Amino acid sequence: MQYDSHTKFATTTVFLHWLVGLTIIGMLATGIYMAENGVYTLYPWHKAIGFLLLFVALARVVWRMKNGWPSAAANYKPLEHKLATVVHWVLILSTLLMPISGLMASVLGGHGLSVFGVEVFAPNFSVDDPEKTLPINYELSKAGAAIHFYLGYTVIVALLLHIAGALKHHLVDKDGTLKRMLGKTISE
Ligand code: HEM
Ligand code: HEM
Repeated sequence: MQYDSHTKFATTTVFLHWLVGLTIIGMLATGIYMAENGVYTLYPWHKAIGFLLLFVALARVVWRMKNGWPSAAANYKPLEHKLATVVHWVLILSTLLMPISGLMASVLGGHGLSVFGVEVFAPNFSVDDPEKTLPINYELSKAGAAIHFYLGYTVIVALLLHIAGALKHHLVDKDGTLKRMLGKTISE
C-alpha cells in the first residue's frame, strides 16, 4: 500500500481529505441554515449524511494513525507549525465529535434516526400519546446538543485559519503545501 511521502501524498490521503472536508463544510452550512430558520425538512438529510460521514471519518482517523502526520512541505516558522498542528487536531477530532454529539442530541433526545428510509434508531414514542416522542436521557441529549453547537462554531474558526494557512502557503510562500494535498508531486 502506498503511504504519504514528503514529496507526494497517497491517493487515500487526498481522497479522504476532500471527501470528509467538503462534506463537513456542507454540513456546517446546512446545519446553521436549518437550525437558524427552523427548516425541518432538511433535518433528516443532515442527520443521515452526518451519520454516514462518521464511518468515513473513522476510516480517515485510522489511516492518519497508520500514516502519521505529514511532514511540513516547506520550512515553516515554529509558531506557524504549532498553529497548523493544533488546527489539524481540532479539525480531525471534530470529524468524529460532530456526528457523535449530533447522534447524542437526536437519539438520546428520543427522536430516532433513519438513514434514507432505513431506521437505525427508533424514536422513543410516549405510551400516553403515540404522536409525541420522549427523551431517553434528557441530560446527555442536552450535553450532546451543547457540544454540537459550540464545537460547530469552533470548527468554523479552525477552518478559516486552515484555509487562510493553505492560501498563504500557496500564494505568498509559493510552496507545495496545497499542491501536495491536490495529489501533485512536489520538489524536495
Ligand atoms: C477549502 C477547504 C480546505 C482546504 C483548501 C484545505 C487544505 C489543506 C491542505 C493544503 C492540507 C495539507 C497541510 C500540510 O501539508 O501540512 C490540509 C491538511 C488537512 N486538512 Fe484540510 N483543507 C480544507 C478543508 C478541510 C476541512 C473542512 C477539514 C476538516 C475536516 C480539513 C482537515 C485537514 C486535516 C486534519 C489535515 C491534516 C492532514 C490530513 O489529515 O489529511 N481540511 N488541508
Ligand atoms: C459532520 C457532521 C456534522 C456537522 C459538521 C454538523 C453541524 C451542525 C451545525 C453547525 C448545526 C447548527 C448549530 C446547532 O444548532 O447545533 C447543526 C445542527 C443540528 N445537527 Fe448537526 N452536524 C453534523 C452531524 C449531525 C448528526 C449525525 C446529527 C444527528 C444524527 C445531527 C443533528 C443535528 C440537529 C438535530 C441539529 C439542529 C439543532 C437545533 O435545531 O437546534 N448533526 N449541525
